Amino acid sequence: MRILLSVCSRNPESVLFRDLPSWAWNCKKDGLHLAKKKSGKLPVPFQEIETRHEFRVYRKRDLVLVQGKGSSVWDLQGREFLDCVTGMGAAILGHGHPVVMKALKQAETLITCSNLFYNDQRALFMASLANAAPGDLKRVFLCNSGAESVEAALKFARFSTGKTEFICARRGYHGRTMGALSATFRPDYREDFMPLVPGFRFAELNHFESFREQVTNETAAVLLEVVQGEGGVHPVRKEFLQDIARLCREKGLLLILDEVQTGMGRTGRLFGCSNYDVIPDMICLAKSMAGGIPMGAVIVSDRIEHPLGKHGSTFGGNPLACKVANEVLKYILISGFLDSVRKKSFYLMRHLTSRPLSRAVEIRGLGLLTGIQVKGEAAPLVQELEDQGVLALTAGPDVIRLLPPLTISMKDLERLIGALCKILA
Ligand SMILES: Cc1ncc(COP(=O)(O)O)c(C=O)c1O
Repeated sequence: MRILLSVCSRNPESVLFRDLPSWAWNCKKDGLHLAKKKSGKLPVPFQEIETRHEFRVYRKRDLVLVQGKGSSVWDLQGREFLDCVTGMGAAILGHGHPVVMKALKQAETLITCSNLFYNDQRALFMASLANAAPGDLKRVFLCNSGAESVEAALKFARFSTGKTEFICARRGYHGRTMGALSATFRPDYREDFMPLVPGFRFAELNHFESFREQVTNETAAVLLEVVQGEGGVHPVRKEFLQDIARLCREKGLLLILDEVQTGMGRTGRLFGCSNYDVIPDMICLAKSMAGGIPMGAVIVSDRIEHPLGKHGSTFGGNPLACKVANEVLKYILISGFLDSVRKKSFYLMRHLTSRPLSRAVEIRGLGLLTGIQVKGEAAPLVQELEDQGVLALTAGPDVIRLLPPLTISMKDLERLIGALCKILA
């Protein structure tokens, strides 16, 4: 069964379905629209097919995205959008970046290599990441996603301390696997999956006393995001994070920073924690590490130990992801690149905060992670943005979240500002 598709985003007529497989014919019998064109070429009902076959866990938006280049994506009808979703922050250099495209050629050499063996690309990437990491964070565990990196950090913390409790922040988000979910605050994400992993306590972000009160003899670690992304784009305050780091040192607790969303330059520094002059015991990374190819990591300090053979990952540290991640990292660290991210971030903030936006309550963020708290629901405004040709996310019920590529041009930034001003006026 072979499907031959020719996708040219700007010309919907060129989306062809030349070799219709049997399951698609079934769709036709069931009345799903496979309208036959005069040419005998049939448009593919991707949306219907996906709806029919997906085990649904996401509320989807009414768009079929088929192509991306730079800061833009195109849908099946050839409509272009400025992409401030970027696969939830994964495409940090935008779509089809030459550095990523070139590194993907590694697939011709070696895609996979078990962690039972050494590998050139893995060694090079680990060395680059450790070199770029602050303090004594010099060893790396590689995995494939954010939740996996958090799971690993929780296990490493339990083993290293011999303790079982964690203090996390209200509104915090760390993923949906059982450990990561136990550290995630949102009751509606948790309630159907009880009992979760025991030992997770929650305190108020940016309220030091609230955290201090939760420390017990069983506390292994404090786990925090540098900017709460999903929870509404709330940056931690510098004094708070420094106080937490001091508390951890004094009480012998570990500090784990979940930088799955804030790492790899998103905040204008390679690691978000560098904005705060804080060095944690572990940094969790994922999303954008390999420019959109699945990858996760935990970078650990000297204080972290774990027994041999009791944690692992089949795909973690595969040569393809490592090669791409190494090239993405090198690109982010090119002199001036992170300066340009900070400049764009200031420009966006300055323009948004200096205009009368009657539907906006507060504009928050760090680097190119921006949240706009609005009056009422954010979802209809995200739809209005889409109608203006800009894709954005929500973060909770009343926040619009923007995760543009760090490579966004000033022209596209102007376009984003224009669209935001229009819908928020
Ligand atoms: C801070 C943070 N941690 C963990 C995760 C989970 O990452 P993943 O979806 O790759 O498992 C996310 C995802 O949005 C995140 O923002």
